Amino acid sequence: MQNKLKILICASEAVPFAKTGGLADVVGTLPKELAKLGHDIRLVLPRYYMIDKEKYGLKEIPGAMGTPLGVVGEVWCGVFEGKLPDTDIPVYFIEHEGYFGRKGIYNDENGQGFMDNDNRFAFFSKACLQLCKKLDFYPDVIQANDWQTAAIPVFLNTDYRNDRLGKAASILTIHNMQYQGDFYEGLMDVLGIGWEHFNFLELEFDNKVNLLKGGIYHSTLLTTVSEGYAKEIQTSEYGWGLEGVVRERANDLYGILNGCDYEEWNPETDKYIAKNYSIKDLSGKKECKRDLQKAFNLPVKDDIPVFGIVSRMARQKGIDILAEAIYKLFDFNAQFVLLGDGEVWSHFYFGDAAHKLPDKMGCYFGYNNELAHKIEAGADFFLMPSRFEPCGLNQMYSLRYGTLPIVRATGGLNDTVENFNEKTWEGTGFKFNDLTAESLFDTVGWAVYTYYNNKNGMKRLIENAMKKRFTWEESAKKYVDVFELAIKKRKGL
Ligand code: ADP
Ligand code: GLC
Repeated sequence: MQNKLKILICASEAVPFAKTGGLADVVGTLPKELAKLGHDIRLVLPRYYMIDKEKYGLKEIPGAMGTPLGVVGEVWCGVFEGKLPDTDIPVYFIEHEGYFGRKGIYNDENGQGFMDNDNRFAFFSKACLQLCKKLDFYPDVIQANDWQTAAIPVFLNTDYRNDRLGKAASILTIHNMQYQGDFYEGLMDVLGIGWEHFNFLELEFDNKVNLLKGGIYHSTLLTTVSEGYAKEIQTSEYGWGLEGVVRERANDLYGILNGCDYEEWNPETDKYIAKNYSIKDLSGKKECKRDLQKAFNLPVKDDIPVFGIVSRMARQKGIDILAEAIYKLFDFNAQFVLLGDGEVWSHFYFGDAAHKLPDKMGCYFGYNNELAHKIEAGADFFLMPSRFEPCGLNQMYSLRYGTLPIVRATGGLNDTVENFNEKTWEGTGFKFNDLTAESLFDTVGWAVYTYYNNKNGMKRLIENAMKKRFTWEESAKKYVDVFELAIKKRKGL
């Protein structure tokens, strides 16, 4: 083994404790693989109100912890300790009633971002570092994830630079460039690191404080969640204004594809689906399809293609393109099932479509993990017409379940799905390039055609898809390589 590293992972969500998207899947799974590789790994999360202390057996670490937060002053909070389920990996929870003692992670019940998200996550980022001191745990490397913890590398280079903690290398992992944590300039006073850092290289962007930008500038090294996305965020199409800042650090940026949690997503053992199945015996998949059709009140038929969608309904996911195409897609002899939570208009729009054509489409709006599993197992195809997709996990789940992904060729989708080659029968799904309703329609049409008229081609595609693996083990090894490089760089070696 390489050196045993002391690693602290800081994030705003992780399964099973709190989740709004794929970030939680990654943060809840990567530590397990790092631990298997022999490293000392610990996780820090906010103790949101919905995280049940009893259920997870969280124990309070005695003594309140103080966190100096600029003009806000010393913020006192509690720290609870638990474990990542079925592991020995410590998870620390920062508890502060004012910041986290409410419903919701980032948004209120109406989907509005909390007004104090700037202070909440500036505080959390700082508290992660204070925690190290409290625990007398001095990590070799600290991984921050997305804008919510992007202030950590900034603090390490400023407040803590001359502290023992300041020796730690930092990694900022970008899961999504769209969300940058940009706030009014007064946040500088809360960060308390001095206004000299409010400049166009570090934290200032468009006259606002941009936490992601600060993190990109200050972190020892950067990663993002696919090789494709690592290239894309250096372009104006995908950089959301920060492409120049990313380009400045292009040599320090690594694309590491997320893995898929094959313990949770495995048709052979999945406890949520009607019948388990494997590549050797697909008969259970038929049962799952019937079960899915029933769950969505669709006519139960074996010989019609079912298209599944599980999505955080946001523009990123191309739901506007899907909305534009949906009534045309109904011309195909096919069924559609949609599980989604997100932009309110989309609930009304797709709900209305399903209401008008209940034989064609079924919708469920809200968050439902069991239903997500049923869709992966019961559908024939899985739709992801994303505008951009840093990695994407659902297409990986789909592959494992032999549910052929239909994706826009972007970011991680492009890296993980191979287009069907009708001559050689190679490939694992169907891809399109143009972000238009026409392209989506044509590609769905190609899939429908293949389903009805190229049964052997379909069979091969399903086999190819089910054999694909994107393991966390492989990704974790790549993270360790980057961590070691960062540690060397921080030491000036
Ligand atoms: P993103 O993080 O951009 O939303 P990913 O594909 O990385 O996209 O991850 C999405 C994760 O959230 C997957 O685990 C997916 O199954 C899950 N998910 C998304 N929407 C829902 C929903 N409405 N119900 C259940 N699971 C969902
Ligand atoms: C983000 C991205 C998604 C990625 C996930 C985990 O939410 O939108 O593509 O899979 O983070 O890295």
